[in-house]
Amino acid sequence: MKTTDQLEPNIFVIFGGAGDLTWRKLMPALFDLSQSHSIPAHFSIIAVDRVELSDEALRKRLHEGVKRFARSGKAAVKEWNEFSRHIRYLQGDFKGNATYQELSDLCEKTEKEWGSKAQRIFYMATPPSLFGVIPCFLAHAGLSADRERARIVIEKPIGYDLESARKLNSTLASGFEESQIFRIDHYLGKETVQNILAFRFANPMFEPIWNRRYVDYVTVTVAEAVGVEHRGGYYDGAGALRDMVQNHLLQLLCLVAMEPMVSFDADEIRNKKVDVLHAVRPIAHDEVHHSTVRGQYGTGWIGGTKVCAYREEAGVPPDSRTETFAALRLFVDNWRWQGVPFYLRTGKCLPCQATEVAIQFRAVPHQSFPIEATLDWQPSRLIISIQPEEGIVLRFQAKHPGPKMVLQPVDMKFSYRDSFATPSPEAYVTLLSDVINNDATLFMRADQVEAAWRLLMPVLDVWSASPPNDFPNYAGGTWGPDATQGLLVQQGHSWPAPVELAGPPKEECS
Ligand code: BG6
Repeated sequence: MKTTDQLEPNIFVIFGGAGDLTWRKLMPALFDLSQSHSIPAHFSIIAVDRVELSDEALRKRLHEGVKRFARSGKAAVKEWNEFSRHIRYLQGDFKGNATYQELSDLCEKTEKEWGSKAQRIFYMATPPSLFGVIPCFLAHAGLSADRERARIVIEKPIGYDLESARKLNSTLASGFEESQIFRIDHYLGKETVQNILAFRFANPMFEPIWNRRYVDYVTVTVAEAVGVEHRGGYYDGAGALRDMVQNHLLQLLCLVAMEPMVSFDADEIRNKKVDVLHAVRPIAHDEVHHSTVRGQYGTGWIGGTKVCAYREEAGVPPDSRTETFAALRLFVDNWRWQGVPFYLRTGKCLPCQATEVAIQFRAVPHQSFPIEATLDWQPSRLIISIQPEEGIVLRFQAKHPGPKMVLQPVDMKFSYRDSFATPSPEAYVTLLSDVINNDATLFMRADQVEAAWRLLMPVLDVWSASPPNDFPNYAGGTWGPDATQGLLVQQGHSWPAPVELAGPPKEECS
């Protein structure tokens, strides 16, 4: 790892510098990086936004965010003062050449003071409507010209569908080369998500069984106990498929299904992931109703608290038909996975927060135990838990102590918290550090984003052509519409109950 002196000087420009993402995620992450000496000695943060604000007022506001959200703890005044002297505010219109001229002058002045050229990172923390605008102004002002040092970071949503994603990618490509573009999917910054690669490819014993001969089916669950919170306005125009499946769930699927990489090179890993997306069998239009489920939450109870229906949330129309739950059955048509269903589900206002990948193994080829021994028998299963607890659980059969042969499922558990003294960094800390170090491994390439949209287009088309007339169709605090179970039951499969790394396994979901 490079020391602060070895890292190249860096000017970190945040468009939307007075906004929520900067306050909640970016500044706490940059502060954390400063505390672990992972930012360069020459470092400057320029927050660009439209509102009138002094440097001091902005710093004060950001300090509040850092105190609340930074993993390194409440920023003490001394540390904060040391860090915040790097922050300055630039008020400007995102659609005015003058802003970019001023920015360019400021960058040059800073570089002159440092006596060295700097990496310039332009972070789009703005509403998506500006994603296609700011890059053009940057390019026009010559701010993207240094192919080695200028970088642009863009958050999801990358487009609204395949066509808009292509358009956005080509706008970005007109000013920046692909190597300069960092598209964030914050799930890839999560420690356990990265651990999927370590688990699969740093151990010899799992890979031989990681295929259709031994795996019966795979489930990917991203359950949220929260509703849409204060984001009703954005969410209602997106829905679960666009908001979660297109990016986070498909990224998880890629990591589980990809072939081993030859090296840890960014493009090598991204090539392997995009191969998976290309191998996923497109859902035919007339298959969409059999292979997918959509839902919207109504009123309900979560952990003893009453939750309102989606249609009653702020910013959501009372007759909204936007899905807050989506489930899909996909197949990866290649030698490794032919015939193995991958079930994906995500939703808001579900009973608990749980992000998990479960690999369900096939039954043994011949059951040699007497029937009485196997009454509690359950298939072997490997569960990778990403949230709220990070770890891995391997469920297998053991003999229950006693004179008779009775089989019972038991869990072997690995928990990050118990195994490592260091807590996992927040995803943004990892991702921002990678941007600063010019490592694109955990970021999405244009072709990946487009392949993911291409895959979902039949579902989006059919869903929009046949609006649901049964919404809301699940009560808040339940596991989604009944049809979600049907998606698996037809094949004799079931959704696994979320694991508890600290305690005994919960009951199966029904
Ligand atoms: C975001 C979605 O990308 O991910 C949100 O827009 C969702 O709707 C969030 O709540 C979930 O992220 P995490 O890290 O809390 O699982």
